[in-house]
Order: sequence, then C-alpha cells, then structure tokens
Amino acid sequence: MDLGLKGKVALVLASSKGLGKAIALKYAEEGTNVMLASRNEVGLKETAEELTRQTGVEIGYCVCDLKIVEDIRSLVTETVARFGKIDVLINNSGGPPAGGFDAFGDEDWQHAFELNLLSYVRAIREVLPYMRKQQQGRIINITSSSIKQPIDNLILSNTFRTGIIGLAKSLSQELANDGILINTVGPGRISTERTAELDEIKAQKLALSSDQVKAQAESNIPLGRYGEPEEFAKTVVFLGSGANTYITGQMILVDGGMTKAF
Ligand SMILES: NC(=O)c1ccc[n+]([C@@H]2O[C@H](COP(=O)([O-])OP(=O)(O)OC[C@H]3O[C@@H](n4cnc5c(N)ncnc54)[C@H](OP(=O)(O)O)[C@@H]3O)[C@@H](O)[C@H]2O)c1
Repeated sequence: MDLGLKGKVALVLASSKGLGKAIALKYAEEGTNVMLASRNEVGLKETAEELTRQTGVEIGYCVCDLKIVEDIRSLVTETVARFGKIDVLINNSGGPPAGGFDAFGDEDWQHAFELNLLSYVRAIREVLPYMRKQQQGRIINITSSSIKQPIDNLILSNTFRTGIIGLAKSLSQELANDGILINTVGPGRISTERTAELDEIKAQKLALSSDQVKAQAESNIPLGRYGEPEEFAKTVVFLGSGANTYITGQMILVDGGMTKAF
C-alpha cells in the first residue's frame, strides 16, 4: 500500500525519545521530512542525526517547551520556513505525574492542563492556517488508554486525556470541509522510559521489583507483553497518511487487547 508520504512534512512533538521518536523514524522511512521538537537540545540533535543516518531523509529539530505558547508559535513558523509546509501534526507531550486526587494541588492541575491539553489546542491552532491553505492535513493526538478506561493512580492523565477526545471529535466536524482529518491514538503499555518509570514508582509503592510489576502488568494483556514503540508508530503513521482518506474523529488504542471497554 502506498501511504502517499513521500515529500510530505510531519511536525512531531515531544520526539527526542520514546513514542515521538519512533513515530518520527517511521515517517522518515516513508520519505517524509520531519521536524522534531522537545526541551532537550542535545537529545534532539542526537535523534535528528540518528534518524538521518538511518533513513537519508532531512530531519530538522527545534527546542520547544510545550507549556510555552511562544515556543509552539516559533516551532510552527520554523517548520514552515525550513520545509515550506506542514502536512501532518503529531500532537504528543510528556506524561503527567502519577498520583491520586489527594496528591495534587492547583499548581499540579494547571501544569497537567497546560502540558496535556492546552499544548494540543495551541499546536492545532498554529498549524491550521497552513493546512487550510493547502486544503488537506492530518492531525494525530497521542494520549493514553485512559481515554477509554481510567488507570489507577493516574488521575491527571484520566482527566485531561479525555478532554482531547472531545476536542478531536468537535474538530473532526469543523475541519472536514478543509480536507483535514483528526484522530486520537492511545498507547496501552509500550516499552519506553515512561513505562519503565511508572513501573518503578509502582514497584516502590508495593515493595516489589520492577520486573515483578512488569510481569503482573503483562499478565493482564491478552497478547502477553508490552508493545514496541515501532508497533505503536505504525498505526499513527497510517492514520496520519494519504492512505487514510475516510477515518476522522476516532479514538484507537494500541494496547495488545489490554483495555476491555468497547
Ligand atoms: N509509553 C506508553 O506505554 C504510554 C502509555 C500511556 C500514555 N503514554 C503517554 O504518551 C506520551 C509519550 O510517552 P513516551 O512513553 O514516549 O514518554 P517518554 O519516553 O517519557 O518521552 C516523552 C517525550 O516528551 C518530551 N517532553 C516532555 N515534556 C515536554 C515539554 N514540556 N515540552 C516538550 N517536550 C516535552 C520529552 O523530551 P524532553 O525531555 O527532551 O523535553 C520526550 O521526548 C506521554 O504523554 C505518555 O504519558 C505513554
């Protein structure tokens, strides 16, 4: 199947490592120019060089703190200045801290709102004029399996990720006439630093080893293991490609069957 991605431009947020990096690599493998973004310049530079070495495709990077509106604005401006357009926006961000209701005050709620919901709104707002002008675009929001089933001890994720669903469903109605398709993809347990970190937190809480916590989690996944970032990235890249012509406003989990909600 031709994904129609050769010569396209993808802006992938939070992409110095983890899921964002895996998505950036998959786009580059399809001949798509990619702009990477995160806070850590050294990590970005290393990732950009690694992906260029692997694919031969031009990869740009831009330091951007997704909590800062001016950073998002200049990221989008720089992407267009360098590559001439934006065909795909991958909205992604760092995860909010683990904890239940009693663990967080206003500052934590505000922080998670800005990072895990408002940054998505802002990035979409900035890319829309370019996508509307070319009357086509793909927007994919990376969230969590908490969009379908709340996760214990992750109340900030459970609250703000579901906001993305309302946002994306509304936008799918508003943007269809401009040829812009928007979808949301939720990872279950995909092996990245974030998953390892959450397993470690749980292990300390339960006085177990992180291997025991991982084994316990895997026993609740019908496919019996954590997913690989590449497996997650493949779904994202299909939805955010020219091969996807009729899916918009949907939420899809890549979770090995872990979530039992319809
Ligand atoms: N992996 C999973 O199984 C899983 C499951 C459910 C949900 N998720 C969610 O999916 C998202 C990505 O997960 P991951 O596993 O790839 O996490 P990760 O390995 O921790 O990577 C997070 C990325 O976000 C960037 N980032 C963090 N804060 C940022 C900020 N303020 N501005 C710009 N970039 C920022 C980091 O780069 P810098 O440090 O360089 O800024 C890094 O590139 C997270 O929101 C996570 O909670 C993941």
